[in-house]
Amino acid sequence: MTYAYYQSVIRGEEMPLGLVDLDIFEENIRQILLRAKGTRIRVATKSVRCVSLLRRLLDADANIQGLMCYTAREAVWLSEQGFDDLLVAYPTYHLEQIRAVAQAVKRGVSIYLMVDKVEHLTQIQQVGKEENVVLPVCLDVDVSTKFPFLHFGVYRSSIRSKNDVVAFVEQVKSCPNIRLAGLMGYEAQIAGIVDNMKGQGVKNAIIRFLKRRSIPKIVALRKAAVKYLESQGIKLDFVNGGGTGSVESTIQEEVVTEVTVGSGFYTSTLFDNYRAFRHLPAFIYAVEVVRNPEPNIFTCLGGGYVASGPAGIDKVPRPHLPEGGKLISHEMAGEVQTPVKYKEDMGLNLGDPIFFRHAKAGELCEHFNEICLVSSGKIERKVKTYRGEGKVFL
Ligand SMILES: Cc1ncc(COP(=O)(O)O)c(C=O)c1O
Repeated sequence: MTYAYYQSVIRGEEMPLGLVDLDIFEENIRQILLRAKGTRIRVATKSVRCVSLLRRLLDADANIQGLMCYTAREAVWLSEQGFDDLLVAYPTYHLEQIRAVAQAVKRGVSIYLMVDKVEHLTQIQQVGKEENVVLPVCLDVDVSTKFPFLHFGVYRSSIRSKNDVVAFVEQVKSCPNIRLAGLMGYEAQIAGIVDNMKGQGVKNAIIRFLKRRSIPKIVALRKAAVKYLESQGIKLDFVNGGGTGSVESTIQEEVVTEVTVGSGFYTSTLFDNYRAFRHLPAFIYAVEVVRNPEPNIFTCLGGGYVASGPAGIDKVPRPHLPEGGKLISHEMAGEVQTPVKYKEDMGLNLGDPIFFRHAKAGELCEHFNEICLVSSGKIERKVKTYRGEGKVFL
C-alpha cells in the first residue's frame, strides 16, 4: 500500500492513530493458514489485544480455535465476553486470580492455568478445594537447548527432561482438584529469533545451524513427555507448541495438536526477517508532522513506542511511509517528538501523517484506545483495544 492511499484513508482524523488494514490482515490469515497445513492455530492474545480482532480471527476459519492468554484476569474477562478455550500461557500465583478462574470454570468455561512448579499446584489445589471444582492445568516443558556456551531459548519452565515430567505428574496425582489437561513447549529460539537479516549472512547461517541442531531435541522431549502422559492414562485436550516464527517446524511434530500464532497477523517489524515466510504489515500507526526544522526533516508529535525485550535498535519503531524515512540516532522515536529524516524534501506539510510500524505486534495497542479498521480505501469502523476498554493486564 502507498503513502497516498493511507493518507487519503485517514484524512481529517486526529493523530496519533492506530490503523489495521483489514485487507492485509485477511491476507496474513490466509498465508498463516497455508503455513499451518491444517494444524489447529491457537491465537496469542498478547499479540492482538483487541476483542473485535480476536473475534474476527476466530471467525475466519474453523482451524483457528482457542486463545492463548497472557494473564488469568485477561482469560476471565474474555470468558465474560463469550470466548472459550482459554489457555493462560504463564503461571498464575495469586490466590484471588486463581479464584476468579475457578469461578469461571464453574460456569462451564475452559480456562487452563500454566504450571511447572509444585508451588503452582499448591496454590491451584487450595483454590480448587475451597471452590469445590477441578481445575484444568497445562504443563509447560522447557524446550530450550543448552549448547556449551549458549542457552538457546528462554528461561521459563523448570521441567527440562522426561524425568522431570515423571516427577511432576506424581505431584499432580496428589492434587484431587487438579486435572492435567494440556502440554505446552514454547520453542522461543526457533519462533522468536530471526534468521534472514539483510547483510548478516554469517550470523544468519549460525542461527540457522543452531536452530537445526535444536529442533531434534525439542521434538524428542515433547514426544517423550506426551508418550509418558499417555502411558499414565492421562488424556490431554491439546499439545501446544510454537509461535509465528516456528510454524513450519512445529507442525511437523506428530504429537503437536496445535500451534500458537499471534504476531504474524499484524506483522510487526521483528517478524520481517525469517527465511520461511514473509507476511505483510497490517497494523501501522500515524503520527502528525508538526514541525519542519530542515527541508528534509519532519518532526512528528509523539510516536516513541519502543518495544520490550533486550534494548536495541530492533525494538525501536520504524518509519514506514512515505518510504525512505530514517530516525535520527541521538533522538530516535521520542516521548513527545520524533524527527524523521529523508534524503530530500518530501513535500510533506504540517498536519500530514508519517506512518510507522512497531517492533512487536500487540504492545502497540497499549498506546491507543481504539484502532481504525481500514478496508477498500476507507475506515470501516473504529474498535477498542484492551486499553480502550480500560483493561491493562501487564
Ligand atoms: C508461550 C508462548 N507461545 C507462543 C508465543 C508466540 O507468539 P507470537 O506468534 O506472537 O510470536 C509466545 C510469544 O512470546 C509465547 O510466549
